Amino acid sequence: MELLSIGVLASGRGSNFQAIIDSIESGYLKAKIVVLITDNPNAYAIERAGKHGIESLVLIPKHYGSRNEYYRAVARELKVREVGLVVLAGFMRIVGKPLIDAFRYRIMNIHPALLPSFPGLHGQGQAVEYGVKISGCTVHFVDEGMDTGPVIIQAAVPAFFEDSEDALSERILRLEHRIFPEAVRLFAENRLEVVGRKVNIHGVAPDDRFFINPPIPE
Ligand code: GRF
Repeated sequence: MELLSIGVLASGRGSNFQAIIDSIESGYLKAKIVVLITDNPNAYAIERAGKHGIESLVLIPKHYGSRNEYYRAVARELKVREVGLVVLAGFMRIVGKPLIDAFRYRIMNIHPALLPSFPGLHGQGQAVEYGVKISGCTVHFVDEGMDTGPVIIQAAVPAFFEDSEDALSERILRLEHRIFPEAVRLFAENRLEVVGRKVNIHGVAPDDRFFINPPIPE
């Protein structure tokens, strides 16, 4: 089977990008990352790409005539590299329609909350402010809405009364780094099927489904 080619979009530090790189390098995930595209010339993700021999492209929205033009350009760069899956790893923009249309159900995002609670920016801060007792993270396919696409994997962490946004973010991030590579692996193994707004994960015994989510770390 041909190796899945991944294109990563990231705007910042890229720790999720790193988690995916690491899972490929360890042999856990059989895929290759062919390009990093960033909208931020100062993104630390660029350095991570360099260290691992991954090409990076800086595409800045204001250099394009319109939002659609920007996303057409992004889609073009991904297509010429024969990307099969687009991974949004801290890409801080709402993806435009030309990219979504070009990669329908082949774009994944990670969100630091249990969707549909707390979409948008600062999911962890919203959870702290609301006072929920459980939070977590969600990997989902991207559709036209903001954090609204079909859910692939979710994992939960406790939220404590004393938590600051940073403390909760840190706890959630450790799980992000586990479930994002796992979701990409399921995609690479062709085990994800979108049915309406739900995702069916193939090749998991019904009794084992609970364990798709990793346990809460110490
Ligand atoms: C993560 O919290 C992710 O859930 C959100 O943006 C942050 C990106 O962090 N979408 P990093 O750049 O992967 O370190």
